[in-house]
Amino acid sequence: MSSETLPASTYRLPTDVLPKHYEVTIRTNLEREVFEGIIIVHLNILEPTNTITFNANESLSLSVAALALSSSDGSVQSLKPTNKAYDSKTERVSYSFADTLAAGTNATLRVGFTGVLEGGMTGYYKSTWDKGIYSLTQFEATYARKAIPCWDEPLLKATFAVTMISQTGTVSLSNMPAIDTSSFIATPALVDDFEKALYSGVESGEWTVTRFETTPPMSTYLLAYANGPFKYIESSYTSPLSGKVRPLRVYTTEDKIHQAQFALDVKRRVMPIYEEVFDVEYPLPKLDTLVANDFDAGAMENWGLITGRTSAFLVDPNGTGITTKKRVAGIQSHEVAHMWFGNIATMEWWSYLWLNEGFATMMGQNIIIDKIFPEWKVDSEFVTNQLNKALRLDAKLSSHPVEVDCPDANKIGQIFDNLSYAKGASVLRMLSYYVGEPKFLKGVSLYLKSHLYGNSTTADLWEGLSQASGTDIGKVMENWITKIGFPVVTVSESEDGTKIKVRQDRFLEDGPAEPKDNETIWTIPLSLLKTNADGTLTIDRSIILNTREAEFDVDTRKPWKLNADSPGVFRVLYTPQRLSLIAHEAAKTIGSAFSLNDRIGLVHDAMAFAKSGHLKISAALELVNILRSEREFLVWDGISQNLSNVVDTWWENTDLVEALNVFRRELYVPLVKKLGFEYSDQDDADTSELRTRAIEQAALAKDPGTIQELQQRFARYAETDDDHAIPADLLKITFQIAIQYGGSQEYNAVAKLYDNPKTPSVQAAAIRALGATQDKELIDRTFEIAMKARDQDVMFFLFGIGQGNPKFRRELMWFFEENYHILDKRFEGNFTMRYFVQASYENLSTKQDVQHIEEFFKDKDTSKYSQALAQALDSIKARAAWIERSTEDLTSWLNGAK
Ligand SMILES: *[C@@H]1O[C@H](CO)[C@@H](O)[C@H](O)[C@H]1NC(C)=O
Ligand SMILES: *[C@@H]1O[C@H](CO)[C@@H](O)[C@H](O)[C@H]1NC(C)=O
Ligand SMILES: *[C@@H]1O[C@H](CO)[C@@H](O)[C@H](O)[C@H]1NC(C)=O
Ligand SMILES: *[C@@H]1O[C@H](CO)[C@@H](O)[C@H](O)[C@H]1NC(C)=O
Ligand SMILES: *[C@@H]1O[C@H](CO)[C@@H](O)[C@H](O)[C@H]1NC(C)=O
Ligand SMILES: *[C@@H]1O[C@H](CO)[C@@H](O)[C@H](O)[C@H]1NC(C)=O
Ligand SMILES: *[C@@H]1O[C@H](CO)[C@@H](O)[C@H](O)[C@H]1NC(C)=O
Ligand SMILES: *[C@@H]1O[C@H](CO)[C@@H](O)[C@H](O)[C@H]1NC(C)=O
Ligand SMILES: [Zn+2]
Repeated sequence: MSSETLPASTYRLPTDVLPKHYEVTIRTNLEREVFEGIIIVHLNILEPTNTITFNANESLSLSVAALALSSSDGSVQSLKPTNKAYDSKTERVSYSFADTLAAGTNATLRVGFTGVLEGGMTGYYKSTWDKGIYSLTQFEATYARKAIPCWDEPLLKATFAVTMISQTGTVSLSNMPAIDTSSFIATPALVDDFEKALYSGVESGEWTVTRFETTPPMSTYLLAYANGPFKYIESSYTSPLSGKVRPLRVYTTEDKIHQAQFALDVKRRVMPIYEEVFDVEYPLPKLDTLVANDFDAGAMENWGLITGRTSAFLVDPNGTGITTKKRVAGIQSHEVAHMWFGNIATMEWWSYLWLNEGFATMMGQNIIIDKIFPEWKVDSEFVTNQLNKALRLDAKLSSHPVEVDCPDANKIGQIFDNLSYAKGASVLRMLSYYVGEPKFLKGVSLYLKSHLYGNSTTADLWEGLSQASGTDIGKVMENWITKIGFPVVTVSESEDGTKIKVRQDRFLEDGPAEPKDNETIWTIPLSLLKTNADGTLTIDRSIILNTREAEFDVDTRKPWKLNADSPGVFRVLYTPQRLSLIAHEAAKTIGSAFSLNDRIGLVHDAMAFAKSGHLKISAALELVNILRSEREFLVWDGISQNLSNVVDTWWENTDLVEALNVFRRELYVPLVKKLGFEYSDQDDADTSELRTRAIEQAALAKDPGTIQELQQRFARYAETDDDHAIPADLLKITFQIAIQYGGSQEYNAVAKLYDNPKTPSVQAAAIRALGATQDKELIDRTFEIAMKARDQDVMFFLFGIGQGNPKFRRELMWFFEENYHILDKRFEGNFTMRYFVQASYENLSTKQDVQHIEEFFKDKDTSKYSQALAQALDSIKARAAWIERSTEDLTSWLNGAK
């Protein structure tokens, strides 16, 4: 896929003039909520031209533009633009000059600008906290141009020297460390009134100038700065490559800084590992993290100054569930991975975003976290969280290839989706299993070293990996990246028990693919596990299926399995008899031929096949039944999510839901009895998580004992305000059950916690719970609260109701539609609408819903959420088809077999 099919001039800046170095001066006025600044850009004139074109959003007002030309004799000539043109759609400014600039001219462009610190979480914006506001930047993907005039494309790297002028007593941060204030003269020679105004108050000491060291060459989307009353905690690490010690800090406001230690510890532990793995020293002198109240994405990998939301980085030291710790560790490590992959070597264009994100996800959240928290079994968790998420999204006709054509800026936000992250990460993990992790990491290191401070494409990474592995990686990976979807591998066995025959076809969530959607042949590493003649087991990772069908020698009378350890981005369909044999082997508590990853993969494949019709739902539930003595959390996690999904699909069939709840209680109540409600520091992560999951599932399946216990705990908590009544891991379900089975008293208690939460997790749990009420008046109150919520929280209210409260699922749809215009207007600057669309519709399940939705959007501009809408419609259709196909089989299995 390439962007070259459209004329580049429609979406790419001209290449005759390129930036080499920016001097950026920013004066931040937190009282008036405005900023002013000047950029001086040193340009490379590559071809003769009389116009200079760069990016600036219309919200930035530009002034005092001038071009200075210096000759070799030292003289300087200043030119004013004779014409200024602005295209607000492409956010481009063109200045024309009377004289043509010769190639090789030494030119610097100087532009003054002013802007407003708005709350929109993009560009240079404000965030609020208890005692006022502070400011910070979010420039990815195309928001740098809202803060400074610039050449805002990832490949146009330049160095940046940032100067900040801020109210004395506040803290100014940027990518690089501040230069010691005593070593420079605070006020330069001021050229004009605009510049004089920038520096006013500096002499009197009311304003302070902070000058930062110059960055290495980097992309505009990685530039960052911030100003506010920040506090920090500090640590450091020693480079294993050079022995240099670099400071590491986490900054946030004083009310939150005590929750930053865990994120700092993770950063300190991962930094030396990354250096060793990449064999490239971290290039900057420091690495800060700034935690902000208002933040659009989860976190952002600005070079040297990672930024992110409170929920991404803060951990209450007085007891935080393991889930929160895992998330915080994963995000911190993900962002640190970008300090090399993405920041040192950067995608040539947004089409390669998947590479950036897929890699940071797989490397940061899987390989590296596994090295510091092996007990978390993150590679197994990956199978559930990333691989299955990818397969679920990619099983839709409306999916898209990992590498997408991304011509215009409006589309960039949309491709930052779970597919880019999760499928990208999954195909890289499959590749790592295929070539082996050491060779994989070696290849990545080679790739980085050959693109230091440069731009790169997917092919460049394949080249590094090919060199390290001696295999043509581009050929293996081609279709996984450029083609939509993934295959199902169907296996049959020869009657004499010596051979298996495998066949690949495109897998779709709602049934067999039509021939036109079924043309891709993937190069599939089969990872065949088989039993040798002497009884030992081997896994052959080199076997490839790159034709529609093939045969392999396997003794099928002894344990064997494809996709051993679940590295593959595909599903394996066995005959029901074979599936049952594999399940019994997998269920053995001692001496099983199969691993934890295998059991997780089997559950997910079986349920997906039940949904698509490749397998009867009774066969999938029978697999769950065989695995019922399972002890590992992650297998139960897959089972519980999938059973919830079945319950959620048949949500309007109350008899069936009750029969499913009986089955769920049989599975989970014994686990609750065994594990109890008390958490101990001695528990390993698995035990804690399994306890949490079992209690949640038992409560959701309406087990009276579990519900009563949670209600009592909530009552004690509400009465005494004693945190100990509710273990952090049970916060969410306790609040939810309290509201679901309670009245206005419980509701008011939780609403108060939402207004005044002690930690982000309490607030998140409260948001979710407020959507769980069964009372019409109270749900209306929740809708009201949602509309008044912080911008970033509105969607969580909607997700809470859509996913957690079948009773008001349709109410949510009506609410969204009634408020469509208000929401559309409120969030017009970004892509938040797509989450509202997702939350409001994806849990419905009838054909009438599909019609209704299509009708509703007929006359609306859906361009900012077209994918979310298509995905929601596909989900509903798939559920409707599943209900039609499987209700009978499901009913009879529930009434009979168990
Ligand atoms: C540009 O400036 C450099 C020094 O900064 C000088 O060596 C060079 O000759 C100049 N080029 C032109 C075309 O003036
Ligand atoms: C420029 O920024 C404004 C304010 O955030 C925004 O509404 C507008 O959509 C942006 N322009 C483009 C073309 O994205
Ligand atoms: C932990 O809780 C205790 C009392 O429950 C409180 O005094 C202390 O400040 C808390 N510590 C932190 C870091 O929140
Ligand atoms: C990815 O999916 C999860 C739920 O599975 C959702 O919470 C999250 O917002 C999604 N992320 C993106 C970028 O769409
Ligand atoms: C992008 O990288 C390629 C090599 O990978 C290089 O030839 C090209 O000059 C780079 N483009 C820019 C604008 O730096
Ligand atoms: C896929 O397409 C082939 C022909 O290209 C067809 O024979 C096969 O049945 C299809 N498979 C499925 C699962 O639809
Ligand atoms: C099974 O659960 C996983 C998450 O663990 C989910 O991704 C998948 O969609 C579920 N499958 C079905 C058919 O519900
Ligand atoms: C999205 O844009 C709107 C303005 O159009 C802004 O109010 C909001 O804060 C932005 N961000 C999010 C995540 O809502
Ligand atoms: Zn990332």
